[in-house]
Amino acid sequence: MSTITSTPITSATSPFLNDVLNGLMAEKKFLSSKYFYDETGDRIFQQIMEMGEYYLTDAEMEILQHQTDELANVMVSNSGAFDLIELGAGDATKSVHLLKTLLNRQIEFSYLPIDISQHVIEDLEENLPKKLPDLKVQGLNGDYFAMVKKAKSLSGRRKILLFMGANIGNMDVAEAKEFCKALRNELSPEDLLIIGFDLKKNPRQILAAYDDAAGITKSFNLNLLSRINRELDGDFEVDQFDHYASYDPETGACKSYLVSLKNQVVNIGDETISFAANEHIYMEISQKYSLKEINDLAMETGFTPTADFFDHQKYFVDTVWKVGE
Ligand code: AVI
Repeated sequence: MSTITSTPITSATSPFLNDVLNGLMAEKKFLSSKYFYDETGDRIFQQIMEMGEYYLTDAEMEILQHQTDELANVMVSNSGAFDLIELGAGDATKSVHLLKTLLNRQIEFSYLPIDISQHVIEDLEENLPKKLPDLKVQGLNGDYFAMVKKAKSLSGRRKILLFMGANIGNMDVAEAKEFCKALRNELSPEDLLIIGFDLKKNPRQILAAYDDAAGITKSFNLNLLSRINRELDGDFEVDQFDHYASYDPETGACKSYLVSLKNQVVNIGDETISFAANEHIYMEISQKYSLKEINDLAMETGFTPTADFFDHQKYFVDTVWKVGE
């Protein structure tokens, strides 16, 4: 007879638990928005992208639907075959337009989507060849930097990195700088980086995108508390927290918080955390940039801004950076 032993979740074995406890035991409580994306979080994020208030997805989609010829011109100039590596590829709904254009123009490239989710990579490897039979695709499942290194070990071809969807906005400016520098260190002189940024615009419009009338963004944030309950043996009373979003037009920081509606105590595994009434948990930053700030970021991190692609309302930009001068 065999006995089944289950390993208890501890901070040492679970980075999720470790990060959650670190954040909630800090003097100013915080949680990391990277944990928003469990199965329920993915589903809520899909709903966010379909909301009227959330202009980002349509704006970037418009760029990819109408300007991939011009984008391809910038990508192919002065060199041969390349590897197109997409960081956080998701379902590639936007990049598929670019892939189509590159294939129609018989440009020689392979597509290497990177995603932290094995499931996403399996889906892409199965479904993309059905849509684009001539596409050479090799999915890479894991951490961005480890997978970029792996891509470099797989071929010596020129690399073009794609980082779309304003994902860079979920880092604060200092983190974004470190991230771009670290990417730069992985790249060689002929390589390119293409990044999507959400631009500064009317503050009310930005705030509405993160504080929608139907409360979808609220449920996106609250889902992280439910996820802690489900996966880390927590007992948050989720309806005893409210969502609060703010946008500062000076700094471009759009931030989301959860606010405790009463004095309360929450247990997570063996730990107990107290919340005072009106105490907040900092949940997410969605940083907005001016074009000048984007160009400065490029220069400060070892890139040269080379081309910008905007939607017709100039809400969003996909910018192309060359390595070095
Ligand atoms: C994924 N990321 C770019 C989204 C954003 O706009 O910051 C996540 C999001 N959070 C709330 N709404 C959307």
